[in-house]
Formats: sequence, structure tokens, C-alpha cells
Amino acid sequence: MKYLRGLAPDFIWGTATSAYQIEGAVAEDGRSPSIWDTFCRVPGAIDNGDTGDVACDHYHRWPEDIELMRRLGVDAYRFSIAWPRILPEGTGRVNQAGLDFYERLVDSLLESGIRPFATLYHWDLPQVLQDRGGWPARDTAMAFADYARVVGERLGDRIGDWFTVNEPLCSAWIGYLEGVMAPGEKDLSRAVPASHHLLLGHGLAAAALRSVSRGPVRVGAVLNLSPCEPASDDEKDVAAARRADGHTNRWWLDPLNGRGYPEDMVEVYGITPPVRDGDLDVIASPMDHVGLNYYFRQVVTDDPTGPVPRARMISVPDWTLTGMGWEVHADGLEQLLVRLTDEYQAQRIYVTENGSAWPDEIEPDGHVEDKERTDFLEQHLAACAAAARRGAPLAGYFAWSLLDNFEWAYGYAKRFGLVHVDYPTQRRTMKASGHRYADIIRSYRERPDQSVPNEPQPIGS
Ligand code: IFM
Repeated sequence: MKYLRGLAPDFIWGTATSAYQIEGAVAEDGRSPSIWDTFCRVPGAIDNGDTGDVACDHYHRWPEDIELMRRLGVDAYRFSIAWPRILPEGTGRVNQAGLDFYERLVDSLLESGIRPFATLYHWDLPQVLQDRGGWPARDTAMAFADYARVVGERLGDRIGDWFTVNEPLCSAWIGYLEGVMAPGEKDLSRAVPASHHLLLGHGLAAAALRSVSRGPVRVGAVLNLSPCEPASDDEKDVAAARRADGHTNRWWLDPLNGRGYPEDMVEVYGITPPVRDGDLDVIASPMDHVGLNYYFRQVVTDDPTGPVPRARMISVPDWTLTGMGWEVHADGLEQLLVRLTDEYQAQRIYVTENGSAWPDEIEPDGHVEDKERTDFLEQHLAACAAAARRGAPLAGYFAWSLLDNFEWAYGYAKRFGLVHVDYPTQRRTMKASGHRYADIIRSYRERPDQSVPNEPQPIGS
């Protein structure tokens, strides 16, 4: 089956992680606590009382993890840089040991022929900045730009591909409104300013990276988007789907694309974001690429007494749900890629995350037979190709995730990796999905007509 027909000949095959989810070593080499270190200490905040203290111990085991990437045969690796390692006081004093770590990682990736894609902010705000107001405070956006400059000055000659903020929706809505992620606040009047300062921080950081980089630099933001559909034709459900779309998608896409904040959502929130003169231009300065993280669609009903956006997600019994309880719906990825292209004229798109959690187990023979993850991967790659055939300028795909890792409020219970991690021993085992991904990448490279056999390949060692 030629299910990848349509992808670019130089399509970038990658995998992704983030700092707090894999690094561990939270108190080493001058790193200061982040809001996640603090949140993990809140009783009941994280399943099983898990923390990121050790995680996958990637801070010490990164050479082994690069070796795993080589076995996968990926072209690129998307990772994030931990702000509290670079600027332990949030601003000002630079911790060279933190930069040294990422420099070693990047140099080794480049030696291995793997292109680094760096994300500056994947949710680990230095706690000292949260103590000074966090993202609801404008100064945090300014501090973020300073941090971007410091990182760009040191690594900008080796990293050409950058992402500023990862999933600002989660930081603002889940962190400051729902209280389920760090810093665990439940306050719309802080969440709305946080959303604005995350976007402003994106624009300022992008400009800072461009100003200090000595080589070609490509910068964009990473958004987690979902198609939002009404559960019925009832006009109330249709209106709820529109609100869910505003909350999840348009609140981010519109200002980034020069349209300002959607009026209907300002009305829903009853709060106007604290926009100052020039902010919207900073936010809308053209991105070189946009990162799309896709996991699920939202089918919603009206929920008049629920929290904003007063739309409740439903689930239908015959859907296939992942270990996160998320519906497997690959068409949603195609839909979003086409929407970014047609409605927002995206010039270059990367799927910066896509993957699924399942209750994997190591079989007695040492293999991890994660057929559901392999199916999920193939279905979503097919959706990427379908979108490319419809004109989406899709440049690459980063499977989430390289390793099983710390899944935020779910702790280590949810496994997203192509590689299994046995946490007590830190032993890594390539899962069947990892072997399949490696086969797909290899076949794709070998076959310029982009056809890939659909038969599962034998599992290697
Ligand atoms: O693990 C997360 C990641 O940090 C951000 N995007 C979604 C993933 C799965 O929940």
C-alpha cells in the first residue's frame, strides 16, 4: 500500500521528548526548581506521588538515548531546553553548566547525523519566576526573551530549527485555569493574561533568536489543536463546538496569524487580554514553521453550567480509546493540517508530536508487542500523507515519544514511548512500534516512489 504517497522526498522523520519528562537530575549542576518540581510536591497532584526527580535519567544517559535514535534511523530529534538549568534565577546570571549539557547533546546529535530541533519552553518555568507572578505577569514574557537570547548566543550556530513555546494552551488553560498542571491555579482572571504573555513571549523570543543567531534560523510555536465537532445538530451543541474551537484553536491561531484575539471568546471569558500597543504585531511576526501536536478530536455538548468554554467532551462506546482515554481519530490530523494550510496559509508545518499511550508490558521473551501503537502510528502517517496530497506543506513528523517518560499529572503510569523504560533499572527496550518506525523510515528513504510495504516487518533485536 502506498500510504505515504504525497509526503515530500526530503520529509523529516523524527522523534520528540521534553526536558522535565526525561532528564531527571533536578538538583544537579546548578539547576533551580521549576514549577513542576513544586507541583509534584503538592499532595494528590500527581498520580502515585510520582515526580520528575529521576525520570529517564536522560541527563546522564543521553549518549545511550542518541544511540536509540540512531537505531530508529531518525533524521531529527525535537527536545526541550530547561530554563531553570540555564538561568537558575529566571533572569540574569547564566549557568554555564546548563548550557554545557545542551551543547554536548547537540554536538553529539550532529555527529550522529541527527538534526536538533530545540523547544525553549516545555512547561518548566523557573519557580522563582512563578513567585514573581508567573505567566500572568508581563515580565515573564520579557524574561523569556532574555533566556532565548542567552540560548541562541550559545547554540545558535549549531541549531537552525527552533520552537518557542510548546502547547501554550496547556500552560494557560490547564495550568492556570483548570489547576491540573503546574502551577495548579484555578483562576480565569490569571489564565487569560497568562495566555497573552505566552504568545507575547513567543514573539519576543523569536525576535531574540533571530537577532543573535549566526546561522540560518527558523522559528515557530508549537500548538496542540483539536477539531471540535458538535455531538448533535442541536444549535446549542453547535454553539458549544464553536466555543470549544475558539478555546482550543482560534485563541492561539488567530493572534499568531495577525487576526487578534477572537471577539466571541473575549465575550465568553468576559475578560480582555492585557494587550499593549505593538503586542499583536510582535505575536504575529511571520513564523518560519508551525508545530502541530495532535492527539484527539473533541466531540462536545453544550454545558451551560460547566467551566469555560462550557462545552463538555463526550465519548461514544464504539470508539477506540488509548490508555489516556483519548479517541483514536487519525482523520482529525488530516483535517487540522488542511485547515492550517487553507485557513491560516501556513508555509511549513511539522507534526511536532503525535503518539499514544497503551499499557505495554515486556513479554517473557523480552519483546514489547505494542500493536495498538504501531497501528496508531501508521494510521496517523497515512493521514499526514493524505493532507500532503491535499496541499499541506508538511515538512516532517516527530513521533511522541522516544521514551516512556513522566506524563505530567499521570506520573509514570502512561507509556507513550517507542522505547520502553524499566524505571527501577533504567533499562531501555525498543518496542515493536519502534522497530516498525525504523522500517518505515528505511523503506521510505530507499524507495523514491515513496511506497512502503504494509506488512509488519520481523522484529529485530
Ligand atoms: O506528554 C505530553 C507532552 O509533554 C505534551 N503533549 C502531549 C503529550 C502527551 O500527553
